[in-house]
Amino acid sequence: MKTATIDTRTMAYHEAGQGPALLLVHGFPLDHSMWNEQIASLSNQYRVIAPDLRGFGKSDGAGEVTTMADFADDVAKLVDHLGIEEPIHFCGLSMGGYVAWQFFLRHRAKLASLMVCDSRAAADSPEAAEGRRKTASKVLAEGSAVVADAMLPKLFGEWVRSAMPEVVEATDRVMRRTSPVAVAAALGGMAARIDFTPHLAKVDLPTLIVCGEHDVISPLAEMKTIADAIPGAKFCAVEGAGHMSPLEKPQIVSGAIREFLTSAMA
Ligand code: MLT
Repeated sequence: MKTATIDTRTMAYHEAGQGPALLLVHGFPLDHSMWNEQIASLSNQYRVIAPDLRGFGKSDGAGEVTTMADFADDVAKLVDHLGIEEPIHFCGLSMGGYVAWQFFLRHRAKLASLMVCDSRAAADSPEAAEGRRKTASKVLAEGSAVVADAMLPKLFGEWVRSAMPEVVEATDRVMRRTSPVAVAAALGGMAARIDFTPHLAKVDLPTLIVCGEHDVISPLAEMKTIADAIPGAKFCAVEGAGHMSPLEKPQIVSGAIREFLTSAMA
């Protein structure tokens, strides 16, 4: 892992390969390692950069609330720190997708294309936002195991638990070692995020929407609606996968990203 100083914080990131810059932004409450398969596969053609978002993995600096805009600005500053002047390809999963929407709103000029996996455009309902704030207080009192226990059953398709136990266990370990302060701050940020739905029609970039067929957190039908609302967006339903499609079906997701990027750059 390399590190960059972003304002006063340390941001850790994995970097591999050469070529057009491809940013892979992880979901909640994870770190860059959820993209290991895509990093390995796509770095033969792209300069792949997978950061740990503020407070996650080996990055520090989470405060009381980290908004999706904060995360997007951190990624934009990392791009500047790396001296990347060409527009980048931005791929985010779930919370990383919420960050992608903010990156579009705040840093459009830095973007060549957008990929959003297993995510949502809508804001939380008031009840869901309140639930997140309560969970944040519980995490600060009891630790990150609170979210690991709640999330693990929702992340993966049923078959993955028996067919790929090492993937499930590795994800569980990442969640359990994530700083409770970072988890609580991101929960507050997700609770406060805006509804991006009215902006979907304004996305004027090549866009790919990817969704696991059995995703119970960001359902396939809802993600199809997102793809339909973005002019010209491509949609990839990942057969057999749940919420963590890049981990569950790595070759299919890496292949979809590669094919999309080839057409986006043509
Ligand atoms: C994620 O995978 O990033 C989370 O499920 C997002 C969320 O809780 O809304």
